[in-house]
Amino acid sequence: MSLWEEDYNIPSFPAVTADDSADVIIVGGGITGITAAYLLTKANVSVILIDADRLVNGTTGHTTAKITAQHGLIYDELIQHTDKTKARLHYEGATDALNMIKETIESLAIDCDFVDKNAVLYAENDVYARKLEREAMAYKTLNIPHETIEGPPDLQAVGGLRMPDQAEFHPIKYLSSLVHYITKHGGRIYEQTVATNLSKDDRPEVITRDGHRLQGSHVIVCSHFPFYEGNQFYFTRMYAERSYILAIKPKQMPAEDDMYLNPEDPVRSIRKMSFRGEELLLIGGEQHKTGQGRATSSHYEALETFANKHFGIERIVDRWSAQDLTTIDKLPYIGRMSDAHPNVYVSTGYRKWGMTTGTLAAMILSDAVHLKQNRYASLYSPNRFYANPSIATFLRENLNVSKHLLLGKLDLTNQSLDDLNTNEAIVFKHNGQRKGAFKDTENHIHIVDTTCTHLGCEVAWNDGDHTWDCPCHGSRFSYTGDVIEGPAETPLQTHDHSLFTNLDTKDDSSGW
Ligand code: FES
Repeated sequence: MSLWEEDYNIPSFPAVTADDSADVIIVGGGITGITAAYLLTKANVSVILIDADRLVNGTTGHTTAKITAQHGLIYDELIQHTDKTKARLHYEGATDALNMIKETIESLAIDCDFVDKNAVLYAENDVYARKLEREAMAYKTLNIPHETIEGPPDLQAVGGLRMPDQAEFHPIKYLSSLVHYITKHGGRIYEQTVATNLSKDDRPEVITRDGHRLQGSHVIVCSHFPFYEGNQFYFTRMYAERSYILAIKPKQMPAEDDMYLNPEDPVRSIRKMSFRGEELLLIGGEQHKTGQGRATSSHYEALETFANKHFGIERIVDRWSAQDLTTIDKLPYIGRMSDAHPNVYVSTGYRKWGMTTGTLAAMILSDAVHLKQNRYASLYSPNRFYANPSIATFLRENLNVSKHLLLGKLDLTNQSLDDLNTNEAIVFKHNGQRKGAFKDTENHIHIVDTTCTHLGCEVAWNDGDHTWDCPCHGSRFSYTGDVIEGPAETPLQTHDHSLFTNLDTKDDSSGW
C-alpha cells in the first residue's frame, strides 16, 4: 500500500455476484476507468466499472501524482520520429487533461491538495545538459512555454528546463470524489472481480472468473495491461518497467518549490507531499525492466543514498514501487481495439505519465462512445504505425525475452527449506523442475512453479515487494501464485511444501 492509500480511504465495493448489463462496461479502476465512468455518468450513460482488486490499487495508487505535459525528454524525439504537428498535439493533449482535472476539481469542489507547480527537467552531467538543450529547442519550435535555468543548486545540477503552470495533487482524494459522483448518479462499481474473457458480439460481454457476464453496448479495457488482447499482441508491443518511491521527512527541503525530474540513468523524480500535516518529500526513480536487474531492495537503498546526499533524511516514512508499460514509439495506445472489435476500446502504455494520459484517455474514449470526433484519437490509435528508429532499441529490449524464456535467470540454491528465514525466498529444483519457495511472517512456506503461465519464461523473485515477476512481458504473481498483473491470466502452479524433502540443487539450465 502506498502513502496515498494509507492517507485516504477510497470507498470499497462488493464483487459481482450475478449477470448484469449497462451501456458501457469499464474494466480497470485506475484513473482512466474512474474518469471515464465519471464522464459517461455525467452524460447520462449507464456504466458498470469493475476492478480485479481494489480501486486505484494499481499504478494509479502508486504514482508520484505529477500532473504535467513535461513527459521527460520526449518532444525532441517526437519531432524526429513523427512530426511537429503530432509533437505539438501531444503537448496539447496533456494540457487539456490538466485543465480537465482542474475544472473537475472546481465543479465538484474537491479538496485534493491540488497545487500549481512548475515542472523542471534537470541534468547532472554535460551529456544530459546537451539533451536538455535539444529538448529546449523542441519546446521553442513547438511554442511550448518554457524557461531554461541553471538547474536546482541543491541537486548539483548543470542545467535545467522549466515548464510553468503544471500541477500536483493527491490522486486518491481526487478520484474518491469522482467515485462518489459516479455512485450517487447510478453508476455501478464492483471490486474483486476479475475479467477473464470478452465475447465479440454486437453487444460485447465481459466474462468474469466466476462465470458472470457483464453486457454492454461498449467495453472499455483499461486494466493496465489489457486483460483481453483481441489478437493484437500487446505483449510484443510494450515492455514493463518497475520503479521505486521513498517518502521521507527530509532534514532540509529543496530550495525551490518545483517538481523535479532528472531523466538520466538512474532517473530521479522529486516532489513534495503533505501527509497528516507534515511536509514530506517523495523521491522516485531506479527503474528497470520487470523481473530483471539487481535485487529490488538495493533500489530503495540507492534512493536513500541520493536523498541523504542532497537533503538529509530525518525519517523514512514509507516506500513503495510501481509498474509502468512503455510502447514501441513511447506514445500510449488509446482507442478502438481492432476492426474485429468495433465496440471495444483499449487504453494502455502510459510510460509513467498516467495522471495526464489516463485522464486524456478517458476523454478520448468517452467521445468514442458518443461517436464524437476527438482530435487526439488518431495520434494514439492502437493501430497506428509511426516509423521510429528507436524501434531497434525496443526490439533489442524485447530480444532478451528469448534469453529468459530459454534459460531463466534464477540462481538455484542449496539451502534447505527448513533453513528458510521469515520473508525469505529461494529457488530450488525438484525432480528436474524449478520451484520457488517463500516463508511468510506466520512461518508458512509457499511453493510455486516458477514457470510463467503466460508464455513460459522463468519468473524472478522481487525481494522488495515479495512477488514473483516475469522478466519477459511483466506479469507479476503474489507469493501465493495469484496473478497481480497480466498479461498472464492463470496463477502459478502451487504445491504443498511437505512434498519437498529432497532438493536437487544442481543447475541444469542448459537442459531448457
Ligand atoms: Fe510473458 Fe511471462 S509475461 S512469459
